[in-house]
Amino acid sequence: EKKITIAIDGFSSTGKSTVAKGLAKKLGYVYVDTGAMYRAVTLYMMRKLFVSNTNLNEEAIVRHLPFIGLKFIFSEEAGFGEMYLNDERVEKEIRYMEVSEQVSKVAAIPQVRKKLVEQQQEMGKEKGVVMDGRDIGTVVFPDAELKIFMTASTEKRAQRRYDELRERGDEVAYDAVLKNVKDRDFMDSTREDSPLIKADDAVEFDNSELNLEEQFDKILKIVEDRI
Ligand code: C5P
Repeated sequence: EKKITIAIDGFSSTGKSTVAKGLAKKLGYVYVDTGAMYRAVTLYMMRKLFVSNTNLNEEAIVRHLPFIGLKFIFSEEAGFGEMYLNDERVEKEIRYMEVSEQVSKVAAIPQVRKKLVEQQQEMGKEKGVVMDGRDIGTVVFPDAELKIFMTASTEKRAQRRYDELRERGDEVAYDAVLKNVKDRDFMDSTREDSPLIKADDAVEFDNSELNLEEQFDKILKIVEDRI
């Protein structure tokens, strides 16, 4: 059986990572969460440079980039690679709302993207990888054998993210989550460098009305056609 590259892109909280993790497990592939990488860079900059709504010094961010080491370390318990920032496990910290609110601004900086895209290409060069993000099918792996573009209504997505955060004990308000989802969609799809767009050859997949099992069955059928 030949190994392929699977690129999953789409707006925030469309359930990309759930599908990607499930696929990776089923196929014995490596799963790479590229959003976690942009989030880890953002966390580093928030700690070092106090990046906030009113403070974003692009030049300083670029100067600090060489000091960032990112690694995924496989966790037996989680069943996937967890994000490490300079040898600190940051899997939890990078999902905080504070980070979600700054990440799209940091991710719009071309030098940040260049560094992370290079690492992502390196991680996927042997194929047998499922990678999710915003520019995987367009920029990171334009030759991926399978590209999926996930969509779902804004309200459905905000509700899912809200439930997820609440489940983790994060005391967020639904309105704040909805606003964040909308803001990120806007910034991610209007930025100049690698904006979020559907690749011409991507399969569009709307999961607004599908439960997890239904989604997975449908996607697995698409995958089996390509392998
Ligand atoms: O996937 P996730 O929602 O965790 O990604 C967080 C943010 O990282 C996105 O809103 C986007 O700004 C940025 N991102 C990106 N390119 C990717 C993955 C994520 O710009 N490939």
